[in-house]
Amino acid sequence: MSERTQVGIVGAGPAGLVLGHLLHLRGIDSVILEDRDRDYVEKRVRAGVLEQGTVDLLTEMGVGGRLQREGLVHHGVELRFDRRGHRIPFDELTGGCGITIYGQQEVVKDLIAARLETGRPLLFEVDDVRPEGLDTDRPTLRFRHGGDERELRCDFIAGCDGFHGVCRDAVPDGVLTRHERAYPFGWLGILAEVAPSSEELIYCHHDRGFALHSMRSPELTRLYLQCEPDEPIESWPDERIWEELHARFESEGWALKEGPIVEKGVTPMRSFVAEPMQHGRLFLAGDAVHIVPATGAKGLNLAVADVRVLADGLSRWFSNQDDTLLRSYSEQCLGRVWHAQYFAWWMTQLLHRMPDDGDGFQTKLQRAQLSHVVSSRAAATALAENYVGLRR
Ligand code: FAD
Ligand code: DHB
Repeated sequence: MSERTQVGIVGAGPAGLVLGHLLHLRGIDSVILEDRDRDYVEKRVRAGVLEQGTVDLLTEMGVGGRLQREGLVHHGVELRFDRRGHRIPFDELTGGCGITIYGQQEVVKDLIAARLETGRPLLFEVDDVRPEGLDTDRPTLRFRHGGDERELRCDFIAGCDGFHGVCRDAVPDGVLTRHERAYPFGWLGILAEVAPSSEELIYCHHDRGFALHSMRSPELTRLYLQCEPDEPIESWPDERIWEELHARFESEGWALKEGPIVEKGVTPMRSFVAEPMQHGRLFLAGDAVHIVPATGAKGLNLAVADVRVLADGLSRWFSNQDDTLLRSYSEQCLGRVWHAQYFAWWMTQLLHRMPDDGDGFQTKLQRAQLSHVVSSRAAATALAENYVGLRR
């Protein structure tokens, strides 16, 4: 079966769904292809921190209703080290800015509902997606769906299929330059049915390793622990997780509340950028083309920022065949991407226990940096500006 669309979008994560909706609002049609089922995509627990720019865009797009009602607006975070907490007041340091805590899976649910309402195609459980003819003006997505072999002829393809997708690898050898760092640790993340133990996020430095206290709602706590990068989840029974969390977060007058663990998983920490973010008629966006370590809470925000630029470029092209914006897509995005890469790396090296730190040199440097951040207004402002997403 052969069909046609203006933009073929691979992946129904935040990047693909936001792009599809922005194009819809400008009267451009698209088909979104997703290899997982709807339930899986809507339940996948990942990011939680939205920058104001992301919140504003989702609201302008008309998908911010529940986000406005249920999102938790925070005006600061705590840095905890040597068993003491130090608040970084974002609002005071950035002229009133903050962040919103709202689960990525909730963003995805809202976007899927909005997509289905438009009546435009969103196909789940597609198999074997093959992007072809990227160097021609009629690129094609071939795939299987419901047992049928299908062909989708497009004007453009958007590769929004995440780090393990197929689009980046469809670019011929030698075109992309890849920059990569794998960190010698990962994060074990859990979701627990218990009220958060703090009103704000806590980024905790400890000799046993990093820990992070976050939340999803007044009844749901999200917690992370630094662990081995390839740690089998079976080696972390619930009791061991709580024991480790209590040890790392220990602070006088503060107690971590426990509750049933309803989700757990291990995520590796990686920095990755492939550039340029485009080849021929294929445009790569979000995790398909860059990964930041989660410590800076930037990945989802970057994915949304990419497709905002891409939607403007595509819209200009479809209205008068002007490709100026499309040609500068990669350049426009990469400045922001590398800035976020820098901040995420900085937060990561500041807060994690380095496994090769034999004589404790790195730990000493981390304490010195942490003391500087919490005692110098200039240093705290730098962290706050980066965290909330203010770019000069
Ligand atoms: P994805 O969300 O990965 O979406 C890609 C989609 O493509 C998926 O639905 C996938 O199933 C689909 N797909 C893959 N291959 C194919 C294929 N061959 N064919 C069709 N479909 C395919 N970011 C933040 O901004 N703030 C945070 O607080 C934060 N915390 C995080 C915590 C954790 C534990 C993790 C793991 C990540 C975190 N991130 C955070 C990062 C954020 O989750 C990602 O950057 C974000 O999901 C990127 O969105 P995306 O749409 O580019 O990719
Ligand atoms: C969350 C995730 C992050 O990576 C982060 O830096 C802060 C919060 C979260 O899932 O809530």
